[in-house]
Amino acid sequence: MAAKPSVKVGSLKQNEVEEAGRIMRLAFGTFLGVPNPVEFMGDRNFIAPRWRSSHVKVLAAREGDRLIGSNVVTRWGSFGFFGPLTVLPEFWDSGVAKMLLEGTMTVFDRWGVRHSGLFTFPHSAKHIGLYQKFGYWPAYLTAIMTHTPEARPAEPAGQNGQPQLLSSLPKGRREQAITACGRLTGQINRGLQLEGEIRSVLKNRTGEVVLVHARGTVDGFAICMNGAGSEGGEKLCYIKFAAARPGAGAPDRFDKLLHACDRFAHSRGAAIEAGVNLAREDAFRRMRAHGYRAAMQGVAMQRPHIAGFNRADAYVIDDWR
Ligand SMILES: CC(C)(COP(=O)(O)OP(=O)(O)OC[C@H]1O[C@@H](n2cnc3c(N)ncnc32)[C@H](O)[C@@H]1OP(=O)(O)O)[C@@H](O)C(=O)NCCC(=O)NCCS
Repeated sequence: MAAKPSVKVGSLKQNEVEEAGRIMRLAFGTFLGVPNPVEFMGDRNFIAPRWRSSHVKVLAAREGDRLIGSNVVTRWGSFGFFGPLTVLPEFWDSGVAKMLLEGTMTVFDRWGVRHSGLFTFPHSAKHIGLYQKFGYWPAYLTAIMTHTPEARPAEPAGQNGQPQLLSSLPKGRREQAITACGRLTGQINRGLQLEGEIRSVLKNRTGEVVLVHARGTVDGFAICMNGAGSEGGEKLCYIKFAAARPGAGAPDRFDKLLHACDRFAHSRGAAIEAGVNLAREDAFRRMRAHGYRAAMQGVAMQRPHIAGFNRADAYVIDDWR
């Protein structure tokens, strides 16, 4: 079905950010049958911190002046993903998501992003069919894992046994570390670049970037969202993205990174949530062995239908929600 002619798609305005968050909670809460839908995701915020970030574009669907849906489009260098995509339940099945997705494809084209993905509900024929219409194809599941670090997480994680926090470095070394993180992700997948995500977490103080080093080389990093108004909220350290340097020794570097994340989360009194695509088989197994347990799972869909960085040799944590 085509949306009513009065429905238009544009950029989300500042004074609509809060309502977009409410619609997101209501839409997911309704779809998932949560008793009080607007309480879905508690104090976590997936809209406001992203709206403030320069590597993110938030699209809005409006009927007249009324906001009725939104989609968050994120750029990680040569790779893009979108979501949460949400529409007010009273407008479901009237073509609003399709309009938001047309706008999303235009954003990817404008950015020159030729490889993109999303996370969705594998059991929903509607969701899979909707995204297939736009050229996406389902592949492996992505497990959303949780883990509560022990009281005193074991194993030294970095210099002096402590993970290094990007925010604590002096400016010059911070810039060097950001460049090193870009080199690391580029080795995993050409053009993959988390610089926007890293700068936004530091600027907005919505979390921290945890680094592990060996002999002056960045062996891994994790972008951890935590704190009031962040994607993790106050009680959760949400690992939005983490990666270990690829090549020989990558499994050990990944283990070291998991320990570093434990130490950081523990210092914040938070449990950890981290998603991993099951194509990254050894990474998943290592997370299980480390104590992570899958809390839920979705499916990764990509356009074009390629592996990208969902590969057995990739030691990457992310989920594209
Ligand atoms: C998922 C959601 C965004 C869809 O929004 P919507 O505005 O209802 O979707 P639309 O009306 O634009 O899309 C309908 C399309 O879905 C697809 N679809 C629906 N049912 C389908 C089915 N049984 N099989 C295959 N495709 C189906 C079709 O492509 C259909 O378009 P068509 O009829 O022209 O072929 C909305 O239901 C929502 O907010 N849900 C809760 C939050 C959520 O799940 N978000 C997405 C997370 S990944």
